[in-house]
Amino acid sequence: MSTNPSTPQAEEHKSKSPPIRFLRFGNYEIQTWYAAPYPEEYTNLPNGRMFICEWCLSYRKSEFQMSRHTLKCKHRYPPGDEIYRNESVSIFEVDGRKNRIYCQNLCLLAKMFLDHKTLYYDVEPFLFYIITEHTANGEEFVGYFSKEKRSGMGYNLSCIMTLPIRQRKGWGMFAIDFSYLLSRKEGKIGTPERPLSKLGFLSYKRYWTTAIYKALLSTEQPHTLGQLSEITGMTIPDVTFTLRQNHLIHSVIVGDEKDYVNENNTYRTRTNKPLLEEHPERASNDDPTSVPVPAPNTYKITYNKNTLEAYLAKDAAKDYVRLAQDKLRWQPFITHQSQLPQSTTNEKSEEDKENKSIEKDVNMLEQDQGYEKQDEKPPENEEQNAGIIKNNNQDTPVAV
Ligand code: ACO
Ligand code: ZN
Repeated sequence: MSTNPSTPQAEEHKSKSPPIRFLRFGNYEIQTWYAAPYPEEYTNLPNGRMFICEWCLSYRKSEFQMSRHTLKCKHRYPPGDEIYRNESVSIFEVDGRKNRIYCQNLCLLAKMFLDHKTLYYDVEPFLFYIITEHTANGEEFVGYFSKEKRSGMGYNLSCIMTLPIRQRKGWGMFAIDFSYLLSRKEGKIGTPERPLSKLGFLSYKRYWTTAIYKALLSTEQPHTLGQLSEITGMTIPDVTFTLRQNHLIHSVIVGDEKDYVNENNTYRTRTNKPLLEEHPERASNDDPTSVPVPAPNTYKITYNKNTLEAYLAKDAAKDYVRLAQDKLRWQPFITHQSQLPQSTTNEKSEEDKENKSIEKDVNMLEQDQGYEKQDEKPPENEEQNAGIIKNNNQDTPVAV
């Protein structure tokens, strides 16, 4: 078995002692960072170690239980549609409504590496994009991000996680790039849900800088915020933030309005009140973008071409996975019933099948609950997913 101490940064981020301290995920042993709302009986495991099936993400308490599961688990790739494939990398779109238990298990897994994310009670309003790498065994899980099917706030990503054993290899940037590609296909601009974690912020800062530099070099001057937003799919506050961070934008003060960013880097509104004072609920120590950076009325964008080219050359030299945009096979999710064509008999029967499949999931789960409560006897159907509802509380929050 190969072990990986997870990323060096794990130490500084993890909470003191989450009840489940280690995950056995396939052949890897992963140290967890934070607690996740797994059922009560999982909080007292021998050596604080839990076992997760790397294919269907169901969890077990012991190696014995997991070995029984492994013998029967036939899954070798995530459920849902494969919407992207380039060489060995694939992305699957999984609907939280159609594959509820898989998505709940995924959220629980992600929560072990996420501190302060908003919790949700159900996964149905979300789509999940699972990144995998092809191996002789199957499509191995690398990471994922979730996205609201319909976001009133214009979020194009709710939650992102790369398995610690895969971090710092460019997968996060790849996933973020993909989230913006989906937005562009939808004809929208997007932004991640706030607040970002510390690692989320570092990753976005890096991605945004690269995207803005590429956009600046690919177009003629003078540049405008709107134009950069259109090219990158980033919101104007995110474009402004990135330019500001890299000292590429200079505001011109008009009339008696105040400078939109003062010397201490405290973002201010035109009323000259610090934004955090106006929106204290959005404050985050790790995420200076948790309150949108207002765009200046009058500004100038300037840059040194050589500096930008050198930055991008350094980035390109990294042996990271890159997105091949033409490999996407995807249509935006239709959320409005009115946009759907009249449902045909076939479609109706598909919908029935889907509902039946959900019922089946729930039945399997109920069987599993019985099994887990009793003893080490294997369940009747080992392929079932162990869902978080197992603690008999339908309202267990889920990080998405
Ligand atoms: N320390 C310093 N910089 C980092 C770190 C780190 N630990 N991790 C990422 N970065 C920065 C670097 O600039 C890096 O680029 P570089 O390696 O070329 O220097 C850049 O971010 C991108 O790194 P990736 O390798 O592409 O990202 P990774 O695959 O490691 O995934 C992620 C990033 C998803 C944030 C990962 O750290 C993770 O899963 N963390 C735990 C969960 C989490 O915090 N998710 C974000 C929550 S916020 C939200 O979901 C909207
Ligand atoms: Zn399995």
